[in-house]
Amino acid sequence: MKSFMHQGLSLTLFLKLAALSLAQEDSNDDATLNPARDILSCDAVSCSQNDMSTICSQPSSDNADEIGVGLVSKAINVSDSTQLSLTLIDGYPVGSYGDSLSQYDYTTRTLYVGAPPDTNLSSQPRACVLMMQHQATTFPYATQDSSGSDGQSVTTCPQEFLLDGTTTRAVLSNVGNFSYPSSASLSYCEALAQYVEYRIHNDDIAFGVYYSALVTVAGGTVSGPGFATYDAADIPTSSDATSTNPDSCQPVQPANYQLYNVTSMTQVLRGGSMDQSPITGGRTGYTPIVSVVYGGDDGDDDYSNPEVQFLCMHLRQRDNEELPYSAIANGGAGASAIAESCWLVVAGALLASVLYSYR
Ligand SMILES: *[C@@H]1O[C@H](CO)[C@@H](O)[C@H](O)[C@H]1NC(C)=O
Ligand SMILES: *[C@@H]1O[C@H](CO)[C@@H](O)[C@H](O)[C@H]1NC(C)=O
Ligand SMILES: *[C@@H]1O[C@H](CO)[C@@H](O)[C@H](O)[C@H]1NC(C)=O
Ligand SMILES: *[C@@H]1O[C@H](CO)[C@@H](O)[C@H](O)[C@H]1NC(C)=O
Repeated sequence: MKSFMHQGLSLTLFLKLAALSLAQEDSNDDATLNPARDILSCDAVSCSQNDMSTICSQPSSDNADEIGVGLVSKAINVSDSTQLSLTLIDGYPVGSYGDSLSQYDYTTRTLYVGAPPDTNLSSQPRACVLMMQHQATTFPYATQDSSGSDGQSVTTCPQEFLLDGTTTRAVLSNVGNFSYPSSASLSYCEALAQYVEYRIHNDDIAFGVYYSALVTVAGGTVSGPGFATYDAADIPTSSDATSTNPDSCQPVQPANYQLYNVTSMTQVLRGGSMDQSPITGGRTGYTPIVSVVYGGDDGDDDYSNPEVQFLCMHLRQRDNEELPYSAIANGGAGASAIAESCWLVVAGALLASVLYSYR
């Protein structure tokens, strides 16, 4: 039954990709909506070369849990004078869930915001971040290989996500139409995420080339009312995650920024199970992150016309290699799935050229 579902979805993906290849159109021309910002890795965290106890320090053992880290410096302008950075970390905490019926390993992908020292984020204009998953993992790449082409070290979203702007338009329109119910028990940004998820599940069955029912959205507050200063990031400063120290060498650029946690999502690892499939991104795909900034300075909020940006983030390990496809540590299951997704790219290209020759 399950494998049937995957077959059906793969076929849909195939056909859409074939259509995309035929269209040969670069829909990523809107640099404001989807800016090409560098995604820095642990290489940029120079203090970790001397301090062996940070999350970016090389693990001492070869079979250590692998952690993915991606940093975007000054990614979000919340006001003319305040630029915030983003840090996305995959791999802390990790664990295993389940019983005899279903058993999964998982990792956690957590998004942090970096702010200049001594910034009071709750007195800045309101800003939210929406973070998305597909099938409880990253979004799989389909039109580029997963072995590290240039496109993956910048925040540009791939064509299979943008699909001529259909995805960005759907998100923009739903973000613009959201109004916060005064009776809500969720925070503004959590309620926004819940609304966007609800709308894309109900309005549209397509989300880029993806099936919208498989997309989940988490939201967190980046600044403004509701930002809790106690959210100062709790990033482990030892590789066994037993100690934390917000004042020590933190994975953020610029290096003097202070990190705060924003939101996190649990990622299901299907590396060892029958669920392994090329339409599952595992840990090697990309995470779409949408920033939504309301109003400008002076509390002059414009809630109907927020500034929205899409950033697609692909993470690398501390040594700059690819993360394991769908396992906590390298050497786990998953190599065959990477081979499978390469096959999907090749097959998609073949199908496209076949269709093309019949036109
Ligand atoms: C943010 O502000 C800086 C400095 O004012 C500017 O250079 C940059 O283009 C702005 N970025 C965005 C996404 O608007
Ligand atoms: C930060 O700003 C908020 C809202 O303006 C204010 O209530 C709070 O006291 C400020 N916190 C600090 C530490 O200054
Ligand atoms: C947002 O609201 C406008 C005006 O009511 C409506 O035309 C549009 O379809 C709505 N968008 C979505 C995605 O529901
Ligand atoms: C951030 O971390 C703190 C401390 O671990 C926790 O209490 C808080 O709920 C977290 N906030 C978010 C938004 O995840």
